[in-house]
Amino acid sequence: MLFKQQALLRQKLFVLGSLAIGSLLYLVARVGSLDRLQPLCPIDGRFGPRSQDEIPLRALQFKRGLLHEFRKGNATKEQIRLHNLVQQLPKAIIIGVRKGGTRALLEMLNLHPAVVKASQEIHFFDNDENYAKGIEWYRKKMPFSYPHQITIEKSPAYFITEEVPERIYKMNSSIKLLIIVREPTTRAISDYTQVLEGKERKNKTYYKFEKLAIDPNTCEVNTKYKAVRTSIYTKHLERWLKYFPIEQFHIVDGDRLITEPLPELQLVEKFLNLPPRISQYNLYFNATRGFYCLRFNIVFNKCLAGSKGRIHPEVDTSVITKLRKFFHPFNQKFYQITGRTFHWP
Ligand code: A3P
Repeated sequence: MLFKQQALLRQKLFVLGSLAIGSLLYLVARVGSLDRLQPLCPIDGRFGPRSQDEIPLRALQFKRGLLHEFRKGNATKEQIRLHNLVQQLPKAIIIGVRKGGTRALLEMLNLHPAVVKASQEIHFFDNDENYAKGIEWYRKKMPFSYPHQITIEKSPAYFITEEVPERIYKMNSSIKLLIIVREPTTRAISDYTQVLEGKERKNKTYYKFEKLAIDPNTCEVNTKYKAVRTSIYTKHLERWLKYFPIEQFHIVDGDRLITEPLPELQLVEKFLNLPPRISQYNLYFNATRGFYCLRFNIVFNKCLAGSKGRIHPEVDTSVITKLRKFFHPFNQKFYQITGRTFHWP
């Protein structure tokens, strides 16, 4: 009898305990999402007048869900009209640099409730065929957003493609331009690693990095090699400066975005005149991945795909030294123009 009563008591305690844990988890989830439900401060006038006085708190929560439904093609025209959703041209573009951390930057900025990312690289300005389709084609490629939000797209090829600055200028001469850079030699090796992986996937052989980066006739750095040319940041930036003043650019430290993303993101929020909304809560270090991952709320988090953060092949140290020496004067010029020093070797 006593044993039966004890078992009953244990059962009751178990049920009560489960209820308490359930409620606690629910509360934590609510608090987690509250972080994303803070009302926004007014966004700077440069992003255009706000058509609604306030963003309803629910709308922010709703934003991801509804926008997601749109992407899947499940939302109705009535919902688009009701929520005043629009496809807007980007107010800011991540123009490069390839392998600088452009995807991580875009995904992390998308944590901000006032930012909506274009998921795909659109390649409108660097691809003649796409460009010929016209600006409406480009706009239709943009995700749905609320009028007060800003759309951001990234296509790293923009940075190095000759025609792009003029084309972007023609679309919007006051657009904000984000460039994420890494130490140039590391970036070049990362670039090579991506191409190498592509070749391996097709069962093709490829040259060693050393063979591509160093001209065998002169034993000097091979400036014809694209991965080297792309890392001469100042050369590309100078072309852009013929169209846009330096104030319209913000340089993101891609190496720091890997190790310490929050301060870099806060600088971008400032540059975009966005109220600070991305917090440490939204970023957590995943030891298995070896990178920071994104936390939208207690239930939804994600890491970048495995194609980000590849293991680089070992490169001969003399080649690395040669490359670093080669990039040095260009880096100095880059620091001078941008006003940001990176202490690259
Ligand atoms: P590696 O693959 O050389 O490590 P991009 O998106 O422009 O192609 O840049 C890819 C680089 O983003 C990766 O280069 C990786 O180091 C960097 N990166 C920065 N933050 C990251 C993150 N949180 N998760 C994965 N990769 C990240």
